[in-house]
Amino acid sequence: MNYLPSWTPSRRDYASESSGLSRLGEKQKAMKGKVLIVDDEKLMRVSLENQLKKEGFFVKSMKTAGEALKYVRNEDYDIIVSDLRLPGLDGIEFLKEIKSISQKAIVIIMTAYGTVESAVTAMREGAFDYICKPFSTDELIIKLERALTYKKATSEVTRLRSEIQELYGHDNIVGKSEAMMKILDTIRTVSDRETTVLIQGESGTGKELIAGAIHYNSSRENGPFIKLSCAALNKEILESELFGHEKGAFTGAIKTKRGRFELADGGSMFLDDVDDIPLEMQVKLLRVLQEREFERVGGEETISVNVRLICATKKDLSNLVKQGKFREDLYYRLNVVALTIPSLRERKEDLPLLINYFIKKYSKHLGISEPDISQEVVDLLMKYNWQGNVRELENVVEHALVFSSANGIIVQSLPEHLRRFESVQREEPLNLNDKDKIDYQDTVAEFERSLIKWAHKRANGNQVHMAEILGIPRTTLRNKMIKLNLSQ
Ligand SMILES: Nc1ncnc2c1ncn2[C@@H]1O[C@H](COP(=O)(O)OP(=O)(O)OP(=O)(O)O)[C@@H](O)[C@H]1O
Ligand SMILES: [Mg+2]
Repeated sequence: MNYLPSWTPSRRDYASESSGLSRLGEKQKAMKGKVLIVDDEKLMRVSLENQLKKEGFFVKSMKTAGEALKYVRNEDYDIIVSDLRLPGLDGIEFLKEIKSISQKAIVIIMTAYGTVESAVTAMREGAFDYICKPFSTDELIIKLERALTYKKATSEVTRLRSEIQELYGHDNIVGKSEAMMKILDTIRTVSDRETTVLIQGESGTGKELIAGAIHYNSSRENGPFIKLSCAALNKEILESELFGHEKGAFTGAIKTKRGRFELADGGSMFLDDVDDIPLEMQVKLLRVLQEREFERVGGEETISVNVRLICATKKDLSNLVKQGKFREDLYYRLNVVALTIPSLRERKEDLPLLINYFIKKYSKHLGISEPDISQEVVDLLMKYNWQGNVRELENVVEHALVFSSANGIIVQSLPEHLRRFESVQREEPLNLNDKDKIDYQDTVAEFERSLIKWAHKRANGNQVHMAEILGIPRTTLRNKMIKLNLSQ
């Protein structure tokens, strides 16, 4: 080819040549990235290779595209820098071949002055950038570093995406009970619709997990997923969190702040504990839902947003409506599609799957091999009443893994409250083996009596504590003690 040697030495080149000290520094530099240079002009190839090596890049150079393709097929290069005019396969055809091997490959095309149109073609074919000959090493290094930063950022995005998929993918909503299958079905159906979804369920049943699954399986998946819990937020704070405020709107508003609705534009907003929104704020929320617009606190400008709302509550909203604590019109607006997640107690058939799922998940996190779990532990977990639902189960499994022994997960690996539960089961067995017939009421009363005696022993007679460990209200405990002749 008829190019003049088209690189010019940079200041950096002189510096690195000038002293042994800087050469030592070069050796200590971490490898910046793997670069493949393709140019048929020997002087160009050799000098670029030397310059870039000095800068800390790992470099290989090739004369022809055909030769280079063999390497690209077998080795991963961060960046390929190729001349546009090459004998045999030219730069554009080479670029197309590379892209057919990997869409993500980063290619920088070198063009001669006056051939910018071909550079445009190259960009259209998926080149990352182009550089016009002659260029200085510095110019190329800037482009290489930009490409490396881009590559790092995109692989970070890919990693985060797979993490999100791991968190919110359908596969991670574990359960085979009829109720969960129905919920999964509904998620599939509603994800891509724009409707508001209301998720109801006790604490730890998976409301946030399901809200995330709806967002990340919708066409808004690349938009933001913004969460806000309304629990215990007073009207002023909630209003400013939701709608933002203008500078000086109230004491302490030192600068303008965008609210969550603005941040969620183009995505979804997950409003947790929606039952806790003060009545006067409910009107404002209703307006956003109906008109998709609002003003910041202290602001006059009307802001329009495109947000899909997903709400969650632990309470029965229809009851709150009856009690006048929740606006009926807002309730109907939120309740377009309602998902009620049953408690874990009501779908115990999901327990074995969930236990396995968490054993797998946490063994991986802890870097241990998956231990066996004793039948005794499985039976116990099946009997327990899981007031804290899946979250409690998840914590119990994680604890059990940390404390698992050479025999795997045994009763002793479980947290204190489960071991206590186990001892109730053991201390007061309901042994009916030698009975042919029983008096149902008496047997139940006897069983309750022994449970209360057990709690009495554990709590040293402190009734508040007894009610706590039995998981029943104190008044219920007192009434039972009177009925069972246990009160002193
Ligand atoms: N069906 C399920 N499969 C797998 N993991 C689940 C499932 N349900 C819940 N989890 C896990 O249990 C934990 C609690 O779930 P999440 O935070 O979604 O519950 P929540 O209903 O929002 O609880 P809270 O009402 O206390 O906010 C999370 O780690 C979640 O990933
Ligand atoms: Mg939650």
